[in-house]
Amino acid sequence: MKNKQLVLDYTNTISDSIGTEHGIMPGEINEYLKKAGECHRIMKSDRESERIGFFNLPFHKKTMKRINDFVQSRYRQYENFVVLGIGGSALGNIALLSSLKHPYYNLLNRKERKNYPRIFVLDNIDPELVVNFLDVINPRNTLFNVISKSGSTAETAAQFLIFTDLLRKKIGKKFVRNLVVTTDPEQGDLRSIAEEYGIQSFDIPPNVGGRFSVLTSVGLLTAGFANIKLNQLLSGAADMLQRCDTSDLFKNPAYLNALIHYLMDTKRKKNISVMMSYSSPLFSWADWYRQLWAESLGKNVDLDGNPVSVGQTPVNALGVTDQHSQVQLYTEGPNDKVFTFLTVEKYRKDIKLPKFKGDYSSLEYLSGNRLSQLFDAEMRATEYALTQQQRPSCRVIFPQINEYTIGQFIMMYEIQTAFAGLLYNIDAFNQPGVEAGKRATYGLLGRNGYAEEAKRIRAQEKDRVRM
Ligand code: PA5
Repeated sequence: MKNKQLVLDYTNTISDSIGTEHGIMPGEINEYLKKAGECHRIMKSDRESERIGFFNLPFHKKTMKRINDFVQSRYRQYENFVVLGIGGSALGNIALLSSLKHPYYNLLNRKERKNYPRIFVLDNIDPELVVNFLDVINPRNTLFNVISKSGSTAETAAQFLIFTDLLRKKIGKKFVRNLVVTTDPEQGDLRSIAEEYGIQSFDIPPNVGGRFSVLTSVGLLTAGFANIKLNQLLSGAADMLQRCDTSDLFKNPAYLNALIHYLMDTKRKKNISVMMSYSSPLFSWADWYRQLWAESLGKNVDLDGNPVSVGQTPVNALGVTDQHSQVQLYTEGPNDKVFTFLTVEKYRKDIKLPKFKGDYSSLEYLSGNRLSQLFDAEMRATEYALTQQQRPSCRVIFPQINEYTIGQFIMMYEIQTAFAGLLYNIDAFNQPGVEAGKRATYGLLGRNGYAEEAKRIRAQEKDRVRM
């Protein structure tokens, strides 16, 4: 499978390409060989003791079988499959769909979808969005998958209330047939509700956090209902896990990329990490990365309890679209960013640019080329422009977009994030900032036990300055 492996090309992050002020010198990487060994041992022990669960997800074959069986028994019955969830319970689903399905999948007819349902991920609670959503689905022939690791996130809980009420009104007592719950196997109200009402449920392993959960039932059930090949997704992840099972930085793309980003941030003042996808289908993975990198590494206390203020701000961008929006800033604005280009070697679809009659120099040079050649040239042009201005960039190259390479990408970035957490010496697996926001919301809406939060927010909101 070697020729199907994801490639990390880091040429333009090193000093030979962009000079010593902004580029990393080979010796700097060598200084981390010992540290890499220590971090590798911690990662291995976290994996073997199952303290951290994402590593072993590719081997949860029973879960995959259960999901496949459920999908096969149900997929013909529904016109729509709707995910209700947010953050780690939604972003991976969106990315799986947009990278592995037709970009206008929901507009295809039933036959073109091979009888599989349309898929929606409702990851916001803007009332206009939610109410308008009701115009495009009929709840009677829709399966709602309520996903929440904690089982209590306000946004998902609100969606649960709206859609179960609707289902009860439309189909009465049998409403549970149109519901699935994906949550912690033991904890949380969603789990209790599933048990009380006999709602079909799937588990999110307790040792896998939201943003690391795309390869649990969280992403796999949606993938199954979209006719995505789960075994190849998991096999890609397993192969990347094996590839990264070495402390040798020059053989381990996840560790090396983590170190490059860490050094860029801490030694080269590049505290912004731009993931620019030169692939429309991969763009949502840049969104997924934004959450993974931000929530895992943005911390104010280190593992020894010292106050710190770390984390690189992840930004997503889309080539070529953002060449006409962001690239001016990227090439000439502050040199405070490190770039990752997601690129594809072999496109699943391509088109040759036709000839146009007449002597028009702005059209002539294009004719005869494939659109992929123009796309690729634009990526190289952007990379060149950045390199000329001593801006570091690397490429993550997909030989082709398919389940196998997407599985590799997911595992590479999850390992990279965990390793980066150890370099920063912070806990990459908690999210106290997110939890604080959740508690404040509970307080403002009068949930029992959160009155103090509400009081503090109201006091702070008293003296607003407006005009
Ligand atoms: O990564 C995380 O833990 C968070 O971003 C969660 O995914 C998000 O807050 C949703 O939480 P839950 O799945 O508990 O509803």
